[in-house]
Amino acid sequence: MSIMDIARTALRHVPDALVPGAKPSPMRGQHGQIGAPVSRLDGVLKVGGAARFVSEVPMEEMLYAALVHSTIAKGRIATLDTAAAEAAPGVALVMTHRNAPKMRAPQAFGQGSGVAGSNLPIMQDDAVHWNGEAIALVLADTQAQADHAAALVSVTYDASPATIDFDAARADAQHPKSILGEPPVLDIGDAEKALAAAPHKVDLRYTTPRHNHNAIEPHGATVRWDGDTLILHDATQMLNGTAATVADVFGLKPEQVRVLSPFVGGGFGGKGLWSHQILAAAAAKLSGRPVRLSLTREAVYRLVGGRTLTEQRVGLGADADGRLTALIHTGVTSMTSHNNCPEQFTFPARHLYAAGSFHLEQHIAEMDMLANTFMRAPGESIGTFALECAIDELAERLGIDPIELRRRNEPTEDPTSGNAFSSRHLLKAYADGAKRFGWERRNATPSSRREGEWLIGMGVATATYPYYRMPGAAARIEMDASGHATVAIAGQEMGMGTATVQAQHAADRLGLPLEAVTFEYGDSALPAGVMAGGSAQTTSILAAVAAASDELIGAFVKLAGNDSPIAGRRADELVARDGGLARADEPSAHESYASILARAGRSSLTVETAAPKPVETMKYSMHSYGAQFAEVGVNAVTGEVRVRRFLGSFDCGRILNPKTATSQFRGGIIMGIGLALMEETLFDPRTGRVMNPSLAEYHVPVHLDVPEIDVIWTDIPDPHTPLGAHGIGEIGITGTAAAIANAIHNATGRRLRDLPMTLDKLL
Ligand code: MOS
Repeated sequence: MSIMDIARTALRHVPDALVPGAKPSPMRGQHGQIGAPVSRLDGVLKVGGAARFVSEVPMEEMLYAALVHSTIAKGRIATLDTAAAEAAPGVALVMTHRNAPKMRAPQAFGQGSGVAGSNLPIMQDDAVHWNGEAIALVLADTQAQADHAAALVSVTYDASPATIDFDAARADAQHPKSILGEPPVLDIGDAEKALAAAPHKVDLRYTTPRHNHNAIEPHGATVRWDGDTLILHDATQMLNGTAATVADVFGLKPEQVRVLSPFVGGGFGGKGLWSHQILAAAAAKLSGRPVRLSLTREAVYRLVGGRTLTEQRVGLGADADGRLTALIHTGVTSMTSHNNCPEQFTFPARHLYAAGSFHLEQHIAEMDMLANTFMRAPGESIGTFALECAIDELAERLGIDPIELRRRNEPTEDPTSGNAFSSRHLLKAYADGAKRFGWERRNATPSSRREGEWLIGMGVATATYPYYRMPGAAARIEMDASGHATVAIAGQEMGMGTATVQAQHAADRLGLPLEAVTFEYGDSALPAGVMAGGSAQTTSILAAVAAASDELIGAFVKLAGNDSPIAGRRADELVARDGGLARADEPSAHESYASILARAGRSSLTVETAAPKPVETMKYSMHSYGAQFAEVGVNAVTGEVRVRRFLGSFDCGRILNPKTATSQFRGGIIMGIGLALMEETLFDPRTGRVMNPSLAEYHVPVHLDVPEIDVIWTDIPDPHTPLGAHGIGEIGITGTAAAIANAIHNATGRRLRDLPMTLDKLL
C-alpha cells in the first residue's frame, strides 16, 4: 500500500469519538493570522534571487553530468562505444551499465514505502525499456564539456518488438489491480439496462491525450557522498519517501540519505523520484566527487512521466424531470508494467450525482513506455471533462438549464458509498457563482451571440477533488528565551504557500506575532512530513503543528509552576496570546513564554509530537467542490478559441490564507485552460518516442491566453477536518476543460469531445 492508499482507505462505521475533528478544539490564539491574506514568506527570497534551486547549489570540486538517451523503445544495447567521449576535453568518466555501481531497483508507488515513478532497475544491464531511457552518463569539469562528450557516445541496438501503439495495446486491456486501493469496477443496480430503458439519454465517447510535466524549474540533482552518507539536493515534493527509497537502492539506512529541497519551482505531481537522482548519486559514488545532473527540458520529457491518455465513455439516462436513472462512466488508459498510476478518471462519478444505478469501470493497456505519473488532479481533471460535458449535453436534450439539472440530482449522502458527506455546499457554490458571473445572461440557444467575427458562449461545469489527510507527520517546536518559536517539519514548498500558512497557524496557536515564528522545512532530517501530494500536505501538517503546539503549551503550564499569574490553571483554561499564556477568565493574568523560561533558568523548551491518525476519512465522504464558469469567444473564420472570462466558485472548507489560496485556484484553472485548449504530448506509435519535447512544440498557456480569472469561495469550515480546511492545490484544474467545452458549444453549436480543443477541430 502506498501512503496515498492508506490516506484514503475507506473503512466504514468509525465512531464519532475517534474522529479528531468531530469536536474541534478551539483556536487558542487571538491574533487572527489564519484567514489573513499574508504574502508568501519565501517571496522576497525568490524575487530577489536569493532562493537557491537544486541546480544552483554550489559544491567544491563538482562534476557536471550529461545524459545519453536510448532511441529505441525496447531491446538491448548491442554496442556502446565511449572511447571518444572519454578522450574528450574535461571528461572525468563515462558511466554505463558496464561500470555503474550495483544498485537495487527502486520501489515504486504502491510497493512498500517506495515513491519511485517506476520500479525498473537503473543502468544495471543492457536492457532498454523505453524510448528515451538514460543509457550513459558523462561527467566533466563543465556542463558544456559534458554535453559535448555525451554527443560522442555511439551506440547500436538489438531492438525487439515493442508495444507502443495504443490502439493495438488496448486489445489486451485489463483491469488494474486497484485504483488507489479502490476496486476497478463499481456496479449499483443494472445501469446498462436502465440506460437502455431511459426516455432521455446520452451515450458519448471522449478522448484525452498524454500530457508532460513542464514545471518552470526543470528537474535536477546536486549530490555528494560524505563517507557512507548521501547528501542529495533535490527538487522534490516527497522528501522522506525519496530518502527511504534511495537508501534502499544503495543498501543504506534511511538516515544515511539526507534529502534537501527548500525551494521547488513547481511540482504538480512530477517532482518525485525518477532515475536522474539515482544516476547522479551513482555517478558521484563512481567518481568520488560531487555531481550535478541538471535535466534539460527535453530530458524532463524523456525521464519524467506525465499524464496518461484516456478514452472514456459516459452514458447518462434520465427520466422526464431530468433525474438520473443510470450513470455509466468507463474507459481505458495506458500504463506500464513497472508503475502503478491507473489515472482515477471515474472517481468523480462516484459521488457527484444521485443516480438510480451506476456502472463505473476502468481498464489499462500496458505499453513499453516511460512510466506515467501523477499530474495535477490525476483522474479528476480529465474525468470531469467527460462527465461534465455529458451532463451538459443531457441538459440540452432535456431543455433544462445545466445548473438546474445538477440541482435536481444533488445527493443527500454519498451515492455510491452511502457515507454522510462531511461538508458539501456545491449548490451554494453554483448559486453564488451564477450570480457573480451573470449566468442569467446566457442564451441557452447555441450560436445566438456574435460580436464581429467572434461567436460568444458561456459554459459551466462542476469541479471536485477528494479530501485526503496522510498519516505519519510529526512536528517539532522550539521556543527560545526571547519567545521566538521555530516549527520544524520535513514539509515541501513548491510555491503554494506551505511555509506561510503553517507559520500563520503556529502564530495563532501559540499567541505569537507572525515575526516570532520561523518555519523550517525542506530537509528530510527534520521530523517526518508527508509528501506534498493529493492536495493533502496542508491538512496533514496542520494536524501535526496543532498537536505539537498543544503539547508545548502543556509543557509551559508545567514549567510555569506556582509562582506564575497562570498558576493553578490547566491548559484548557488558558489562552495563548501576546507571546505567552493568559487565564481565559482573567486576561490580565498573563505570563510570557520568555518570562517562564527565565524563571526556570531555561534557554529554550522543545517538544516533538505526531499528528493524530486521519480517521475522519474512514467515516465520511470527503471532497472539495466548485462551480467553474467560462465565457469563450470562437472566431468564426479561423476557429481560434479565446477564453474571455473565467470564474471559479469553490467550496473547499475554511480558506486559511485568501492570497495564497487565490493563486492556487487560479493556477489550477490556468493549467485547466492548457488541458482544454493546447496541451498534448505527441507520441510516435511507430517508435514510442515523444516527438515534441520542448516548450516550442508543447504548448502551455501564456499570459495572452489567460483572461482575468475571478475566484470566490463559500468559506464554510468542514467540521471534521483540522481547522475546517481542505486541500486546494488540485481542484482548480478540475471541471475547467468541461466548462470551456460547454461554452464552445454554447458559442458555436459544436460539441468537441477530444482534447485539446484546437482550432482545426472547429473548422
Ligand atoms: Mo499532486 S498530482 O498529488 O502533486
